[in-house]
Amino acid sequence: MSVPEPFFIRPISKKGATDCCILLDRPAYNRRSQHTLSNIRSLHRSPLAQLIDGKSIAQEIRNEIRAEVADWVHTGHRPPQLTVVLVGDDPASASYVRGKQRAAEEVGIESTTLTPDPSISEHELVDLVEKLNRDPDVDGILVQLPLPPHINPTRIIATIDPDKDVDGFHPENAGRLMTGQKGFIPATPFGIMELLRRSNVSIESKECVVVGRSNIVGKPTALLLGGPTGNGTVTLCHRKTVNLASHTRRADILVVAVGKVNLITADMVKEGATVIDVGINRVPDPTRKRGYRLVGDVDFKNVEPKVARITPVPGGVGPMTIAMLLRNTLTAATRHAFA
Ligand SMILES: NC(=O)c1ccc[n+]([C@@H]2O[C@H](COP(=O)([O-])OP(=O)(O)OC[C@H]3O[C@@H](n4cnc5c(N)ncnc54)[C@H](OP(=O)(O)O)[C@@H]3O)[C@@H](O)[C@H]2O)c1
Repeated sequence: MSVPEPFFIRPISKKGATDCCILLDRPAYNRRSQHTLSNIRSLHRSPLAQLIDGKSIAQEIRNEIRAEVADWVHTGHRPPQLTVVLVGDDPASASYVRGKQRAAEEVGIESTTLTPDPSISEHELVDLVEKLNRDPDVDGILVQLPLPPHINPTRIIATIDPDKDVDGFHPENAGRLMTGQKGFIPATPFGIMELLRRSNVSIESKECVVVGRSNIVGKPTALLLGGPTGNGTVTLCHRKTVNLASHTRRADILVVAVGKVNLITADMVKEGATVIDVGINRVPDPTRKRGYRLVGDVDFKNVEPKVARITPVPGGVGPMTIAMLLRNTLTAATRHAFA
């Protein structure tokens, strides 16, 4: 279901008055609307950039999933089940897993986190995943990355049953995406496509530039934008790309998934482009309790005035990743029930 654009896209001014509010009927926006009538009039004269509000869009998707799960259970099925395997004590991984578990519970998906001893061998982890593959009460399996150095993640991912691979990282699902067959799409690229769709950004025939070619973000995003769903014309950039700016400047839709603060500056974007910033970087910030803040790969402050739409970091792509993981888990449950 496509949601009306104004609900999710918060208009922000072109010239620094970033708290301007045109959608005065929205309580969250009203709090921000401190501007005088003349400010608002002047904003009407200049074009507006729009903030693509991933947090709100993700919440809307989670609401839809919650309703679908309730219907599913109401018709006599057991709730969808997601099992997460977390190896090691990386605090960031543990925090991501807690977030996924909370989000699953919120929509009625049952979630279990297995935390085998960090010394578990690769062979034992393969056995554990195979056991989950055989368990009829498990719909989705997610092995949280990164794994400890003594375990080969490629082998573990390849062990997951492709029909339970809700992360969409298994080579079979990657191949299905490549060949246009149904399969699980990795959650972040899936989320990017949903952000564009629900923000009414047309991809067809547009110049799309993706910076970063990882298997989990860049490559699948390029395939989706350029495949039959998107029908865009795609350029995929990486470390060896010569004159990156000459590519990014052509982009009607620019997706950046690198992990480098301020890689994309204002002179590298086309006026009126749509910019999707996937990057998550920590920068020191003594004014914050935790001592850092999160920023993306795009120089937001200087790029935002130039473009038509942009995702913030945090609050853009990030929340979509979890929402689409839940979507994949519900899909897995319904497929298993009818297999
Ligand atoms: N919001 C979310 O939910 C979400 C989800 C996943 C990832 N992320 C974030 O997105 C970022 C990318 O993640 P990832 O897993 O895709 O990273 P990754 O596996 O490290 O891949 C980074 C990619 O960026 C390319 N690259 C590096 N420096 C470059 C440069 N100067 N110019 C052009 N390309 C360059 C690399 O090129 P080569 O291939 O040539 O090395 C590589 O393809 C990270 O900040 C990560 O935290 C966010």
